[in-house]
Order: sequence, then C-alpha cells, then structure tokens
Amino acid sequence: MAVAGTGQSNENWSGRAAFILAAVGSAVGLGNLVRFPYVAGDSGGGAFIFVYLATILFIGVPVLIAEFMIGRRGGGSAIAAVSRLARTEGRTRAWVIFPILGILASFLIVSYYSVLAGWILHFIQVFAVDIGGRFVAEGPVALTAPAFEGQSDEEIGGILPKLLSQPGRMIVLHALFMAATVFILSRGVKSGIEAAANVMMPIFFVLLLGLTTFSLVTGEAMQALTFLFTPDFSQLTGSTLLRAVGQAFFSLSLGAAMMLTYGTYLSRETDIKSSSQIVATADTAVALIAGLALFPIVFASPVLSADVMGDNDPGLGLLFVTVPRAFHLMPFGSLFGLAFFVMALFAALTSAIALLETSVSWADGDYDVPPAQKARRRVIGAICLGGLAFLIGIGHALSQVPQTVAATFFNDWSPLDAIPLFQGMNFLDAIDALATTVLQPFVGMITALFAGWAISTSAAKEELRFDNDSTFALWQTLVRWVAPIAVGLVLLYGAIIVPLLD
Ligand code: PHE
Repeated sequence: MAVAGTGQSNENWSGRAAFILAAVGSAVGLGNLVRFPYVAGDSGGGAFIFVYLATILFIGVPVLIAEFMIGRRGGGSAIAAVSRLARTEGRTRAWVIFPILGILASFLIVSYYSVLAGWILHFIQVFAVDIGGRFVAEGPVALTAPAFEGQSDEEIGGILPKLLSQPGRMIVLHALFMAATVFILSRGVKSGIEAAANVMMPIFFVLLLGLTTFSLVTGEAMQALTFLFTPDFSQLTGSTLLRAVGQAFFSLSLGAAMMLTYGTYLSRETDIKSSSQIVATADTAVALIAGLALFPIVFASPVLSADVMGDNDPGLGLLFVTVPRAFHLMPFGSLFGLAFFVMALFAALTSAIALLETSVSWADGDYDVPPAQKARRRVIGAICLGGLAFLIGIGHALSQVPQTVAATFFNDWSPLDAIPLFQGMNFLDAIDALATTVLQPFVGMITALFAGWAISTSAAKEELRFDNDSTFALWQTLVRWVAPIAVGLVLLYGAIIVPLLD
C-alpha cells in the first residue's frame, strides 16, 4: 500500500529494547516520584489506585497505542505524520492542530520542568557536600551517618526557601540542566536519546529498588502500606476521576505529541501493542514502588507524617522539604538521600529529553530532508528551542522568589487571571495547569478521535496486527468512544464547571 513508511532519512531506534527503554524513560519522571504517591494516598488509597489502573487500562493504553501507530504510519515528525496521514486518508488537514497543540504542551512543560530539575541539582550538591565533608574528616564511617547530622530540622527545611531566594543560582542550575538536555538531543535519536536512556534508566531502576528496600526495612512500612493501599471508597468522587485521568495523561506522557514523536522512529517490525503494554506497566509499577520508597521514611517521624497528612497538597514540598528532613532522621541518611536525588535527576532528565524532542523533531524537518542537512538542522533546532525554553524558564524561576526577598515582576503576576481555572495562579502554576489540565487531555481526546475515525480500519489493522478481530474491535471502540467521551467529560467538568463554581 502506498502509505508513508518510516525510514527514508529518519533515524530509527536500534531495536525494540532501545525504543521501550526510551519510552519508559520519558514516562517515568517527577510525575511518578512525587505526584502519584501523594495523590494516591490522599485520594482514597486503594480506591484511587483501582480507578487509576482502570484509567490506564481503558484510556491510557489505547491512546498510547494510537500515538505510536499514528507516529509510525505517518513518519517524519508529529506534525508531518498527522498531516501526511490526513492527506492519504482523504481527511481535512485541520487535524494537524492536535500535534501542534501537543508540541506546545511539551514545550511549555519543559520550560518549568527544567527549573525544578535545577532544584534537584541543588539538593544533589548539598547532599554531596554534606557526605563528602564528613568522609574527608571521618573516612568510610561517614556513610552510615544521617544526612546533615548536627543541623536542626529548621535548617534542613530551610534549604529550599533559601534556594528560592537566590534567583541567580536557580537560573544557573536551570541553564545547566537545559544545556545537558540540548546536548543529548543534538546528538540525534540513536547516539543521543537512546544512549542517554540506556545509561540512565538501568541506574534509575537499581537506585529505585535499593532505596525502596532501605525504606521498607528502616522506615514505617506498615503505615505506608496502609496510607497507600487501604481503599477508602467514600473518597471516590467526580474529582477522583479527574485526578486519575490527569495523572494518567501526565504520567504516561500522553497528549503532548511525545509518544507520537517517538513512534515516528519505530521500525515496522516492532510490535506496538506489546510495547505499549510494557511501557504502561513499567510506568505504573514505578509510581507504585515510588510510594514505597517515599512514605516509610516520612512516616518514621510522627512530626513529618503529621505535616504531610495535614497539608492538602504538599506537592513539591514533599520532595524538597519533607524528604531531606526525613533522611536527616535515618541512619545512612546522607548516602541514601544522595542516591534519592540522583535517581530523581535521571528520571527528570530522560523526561526532559522527550519533552524537548517533540519540537526539535519538527525543527529537523520531514523524512525527505537529506541526512547531513537533517543532522545540522537538529543541532540548530535543539539550541534555539532549548534556548527559548530556557528564557521562559527564567520567568518560572523568578515567579518562585518570595516577594519579601525581591520584587521580580514574575512573583507578582498571575498571567491568566481572567480565566477561572487559572485564577490567582503564578506564572509557573498557570503554565503547568494550562499544559497538563487543558492541553494534554484535549490533545489526547483528539488523538483518540483521529486514530479511531480518521484512519481507516484497514490501515489501523495493518499497523497494529492484533491477533484477532475482537481485540482490534475492542481497541477501536475504546479510541472511538470511550476515551474521547470520558476525557471530554473530565475536561468539561475539571476545566470549566468546577473552576466556575469555585
Ligand atoms: N511523564 C513525565 C512524568 O511523569 C512527564 C511528561 C509529560 C513527559 C509529557 C513527557 C511528556 O514526569
């Protein structure tokens, strides 16, 4: 059939394992390490997890399959792929609006993701200095010490506030992280994205398992298990579904043209269904395991657990305030604290690479651009787009500076104040809400409709190679009806009705 194939001058993944590792690297990020454990524990424990798993299964996986399928069949970049498929299927070119909005979502996300990753770099340095100094003075026994021994709880809780009052430092760290992302992307798919995931993801998994074991053995395992898994069905409300869908899209990197872009580098041989299952399973497993790495050590201290339970959304404070305070109370805390932030860095870096790749892949051109020229365009694209995201990120960093320290303009600015959903939000929060609660679900919904209705059944069948017709029919029903309706309702309720009623 004369449809667009992959290949031409587009670089392909070197194999199925490399592709899966890169996709898992993109999916596993701050969403798994920080947001999921907290949202799960706070929104009904086992009851939330049940709803979340159902969301992943009936909405997340079908949409993930759709993104890979569209990407591979169309080829080139997210926009080129959709535009070409729309043409070959005889549909309107207007469909390209969804990859465009998806690229916008990833680009907006990376502009603040990098600032937060800069905070992680800061904590790595603080832990490294703490452990290094002690090591020089005391030798290997230093490794057994709690983190920041001899300092007060207030001092440790004050590390983040102190960083926030140093905008110059925040911006330098943000620049470093963005530069690393740009450098990796400029090397291309195989020697950049793939190589980075091949190195970082295995280390990430080793660190995660090591930390979880440490945490379960030394911390309050029972209390953490109770918090995370005891089902509380009274907590299941309309907004639980909202949180579950939002979390599923963010965690699986859906509706951001991202999996679509990774799909354009897929070879014909790779099986999309089983790869999608592996990616979704790994992402969900990491989210669940992260809860077991985090909460036992937090609950080991009554003060910290009271703090976390009392807060209705500790968000980033959990990672940057509570976690360092918890490692202060644990034997081997400095060692494991350092390991924890290195793990978070790797998770954030492989996600940031994916987030910026969606626009870089557009910049390097369609698959008929000659390889040498494509490579050049990729380098220039990565530098320019990374530079632009860096500049926007400066605004995010400045929005976090306390007003008592300095007026930075951004810390007294609610850019989208006129819209109820974004009322009172600072620059960073407003951009986060715009990208993750509006754009991602919206783009995800249109992606499902495109895969279900615009692409012919024969093309989809050829691409997905389901074992039998009834599984294919199930997938098609999910992307035609279930995902668009469910996500559409969630969007209507969460982005319009609830903010208006508030
Ligand atoms: N999935 C990533 C996380 O959990 C974030 C992300 C969203 C990455 C969208 C790529 C695209 O942190």
